[in-house]
Amino acid sequence: MPNTQSIPFDIDQIRAQIDHAMAAFLDTLNLPPKLDEPIRYALLAPGKRIRPLLAWASAQAAGGDGSESLPVGVAVELIHAFSLVHDDLPALDNDDLRRGRPTLHKHAGEAAAILAGDAMLALAFESLSAIKPSPTVGTHAKLITQLCQGTRAMIVGQVYDTLGGFDDSLSDESKIKLIHTNKTGALIHAACIMGATAANADQPSLDLISGFACDLGLKFQIIDDLLDVQGDPDLVGKALRKDDDANKLTYPAVLGIDQSNKIIGTLHCDALSKLDQIGPSSTGLRLLLDLMTNRSH
Ligand code: IPE
Ligand code: IPE
Ligand code: MG
Ligand code: MG
Ligand code: MG
Repeated sequence: MPNTQSIPFDIDQIRAQIDHAMAAFLDTLNLPPKLDEPIRYALLAPGKRIRPLLAWASAQAAGGDGSESLPVGVAVELIHAFSLVHDDLPALDNDDLRRGRPTLHKHAGEAAAILAGDAMLALAFESLSAIKPSPTVGTHAKLITQLCQGTRAMIVGQVYDTLGGFDDSLSDESKIKLIHTNKTGALIHAACIMGATAANADQPSLDLISGFACDLGLKFQIIDDLLDVQGDPDLVGKALRKDDDANKLTYPAVLGIDQSNKIIGTLHCDALSKLDQIGPSSTGLRLLLDLMTNRSH
């Protein structure tokens, strides 16, 4: 397992490289303006880019320099942007505000939002072919499988969140954990293990990074639920108090704010223990874990 010196992790500089890679990929496609513009609006909007940052930091944790994760980061962010565009549609969460701007269907219309989402799903897989130096066939197949599994689980989570259909024997706490680990945790998990895979992670590193990602993914969505209840509307960039109005199952609704915070604390410690085992090469993951804990949006 890599146990190298602590590696520099300059978030702004890495984010700039991610944004550049996403725009450069779109530049190669020559899409018609009615598709290109809505995709750029959704993908290049000022989001946190947490998933590509996690892919970069996971590649470093696995012994890489981080940059080998860039196509993986682009692919996962494309899936994420697609999921947000469809999540905001009137048939799902019916939201007008995203990242401090009108949602895509408000900006360009529902047809453009549906079609841009469809396209971003396909483009995510196309973008993986940009990996250089050429990965082995085995690595490529692994990355595609990991991205498929993360995307499938995200959609399964969205189905439970939107349509229900749970097994009758499940408690509300089990239902909410099932929703969150799927709709949000799975793509965060995919970002991390794909970043590590792109850097040729060995199995012990992959297992630790995978465990870390499960803890962080659940924690991330519980914080999203809490921001909906008690976030600052000027900072969050999306409409607040929507979950309660829509009768959503959320951690604060099911377990209360105090218990939700306790679970966040436990998940944080669990995540940290995996990073301790990885050692100094986990600097970036540690930084992102802290950043996500104190996030205001
Ligand atoms: C929002 O994700 C949707 C969830 C899965 C909670 P982010 O909080 O990562 O959104 P952006 O990309 O920074 O806007
Ligand atoms: C969305 O969860 C998760 C996705 C797969 C997009 P939310 O519906 O809670 O996300 P926000 O609050 O709209 O960003
Ligand atoms: Mg939703
Ligand atoms: Mg939503
Ligand atoms: Mg939310």
